[in-house]
Parts: sequence; C-alpha cells; structure tokens
Amino acid sequence: MAAKQEGRKLAILTAYDYTWAQLLDETGVDGILVGDTLGMVVQGHDTTLRVTLENMIYHAEMVVRAVNRALVIVDMPFMSFHVSAEQALENAGRLIKESGATAVKLEGGVNQAATIAKLAAADVPVMAHVGLKPQSVLTIGGYKVQRHKQTLLDDARAAAEAGAFAIVLECVPREIAAEITAELQIPTIGIGAGPDCDGQVLVTNDMLGLTAGFEAKFVKKFTDLRAGAGAALREYIQSVHSGTFPDDAHSFHTR
Ligand code: KIV
Repeated sequence: MAAKQEGRKLAILTAYDYTWAQLLDETGVDGILVGDTLGMVVQGHDTTLRVTLENMIYHAEMVVRAVNRALVIVDMPFMSFHVSAEQALENAGRLIKESGATAVKLEGGVNQAATIAKLAAADVPVMAHVGLKPQSVLTIGGYKVQRHKQTLLDDARAAAEAGAFAIVLECVPREIAAEITAELQIPTIGIGAGPDCDGQVLVTNDMLGLTAGFEAKFVKKFTDLRAGAGAALREYIQSVHSGTFPDDAHSFHTR
C-alpha cells in the first residue's frame, strides 16, 4: 500500500519451491506468490481445481524458508474457503501458521466479501483476485478475458471495502483495469490487465519460457530457458554416452 502511495510499481512472480524462491528473492522481486497454478505448473493438471490445502502448505513452507525479503502470499485453493467464512478463517490460519507466509490470496469479489471481511478482522492479510478466476473455469467454460465492466468494478470495490490489502486483476481490458486502479486506495496487481495497474504478476515458468505448449497474449517470454536447459541436458547425455564426462577434473583421487 505504501508502494502505491509512492507511485512505485510492484513486480510479483510465482514460486513453488526453495530453489526458485531463493533466486527470485535474491533478484529483488517485491512479492512471491505461491499460486495454486502449482496444480498445472508442478503437478501437470489441466486446471488448478485439484490442488489441496496440504499441497499449498507443503509448497509455501519451502518458499518461505528461502525468502529473506519479499512478501510471500499463498493461494487458498478451490473449496478451501467456499463452504463458510469460518472454514475460510480456519484454513487461512493453517496456511499462515504452518507455512510462515505473510498473506493469503483468494479468488472472489462480491461473492467472497463476507469471507474477506472475516479474515481481515482476524488480522489475516488478504489479497483478492477478480476478473478471470481460474477456479471458476468449470462454470465460465474456459480461460477467457472478462469484459463485463460493472461486474469487475463491483467485485474490485467489494473486495477493497471488505478489507483486502491488494487485488489481482486477471485478464481484464486495460481501460477497465486503469479505472479500477485509479479509484481504489489499495494496489491492483495485473496479469493480462495492461500497464496501468500498480503492479504485475506472472507465472515464473511462463515468463522464463519453461512452460511447454502454452501461449498467452499477456505473457512476455523474457528468455527461453526451455531451449537453454534442453541444450545443456542433451550435452550432458552426449558427454556421458561418449565417455567425455566425467573427466579427471571432476574425479577424486586416492590422495
Ligand atoms: O495461481 C496463480 O499463480 C495465480 C496467478 C496467475 C495470479 O493466481
């Protein structure tokens, strides 16, 4: 919230394990999201729906152990906050206490306002997530840009009024994201929501070019790690097959 007041943009990325979280933290990212995209990125599912609370705690705990500086936010998975606000509070408490993360994120605006208020009143920092809500994929029938302006405004306002400290805007026309950003006191974090948001978040594997067969208009590949890592792996295999690895420099001697 201070960053928004100071006009400082926030760069957030996802991580799911110790190694990547350490690298992200060292490079100066402002926030690390242990997203439920782990269902797709790590577990290989088509959606995020099968991710469990235990999965999130397990991965968030690894991330927290690596981080010295960045804000760590952990996603509340599908059906971990939908039954009641009490269930949400209990599960948010588990995520914070058992992983050591600083904040939780949950998908919803108007429909989750009471839950956001309950968590905020219990001093659980909550980031809301409106626009395209991947946990709603079964009812919206795919991952589509959300263009209904009144719904987006209502959701963002409801989340902010309920006490969210920030809001992810996913796959929202940039003009609407800009309007929401100008209106709200809390930071908006865009993913496919244009340049006027207060910050941006991407899935790390996507922006590093590690994700096979996934193209989205909003993802910029800042490098092609899949090609680079693939070349190194093929070189290793070829070196072992040909007997050039290990050489003497990578071997021990009796003395
Ligand atoms: O789960 C996730 O990684 C997310 C981001 C894509 C915003 O929610």
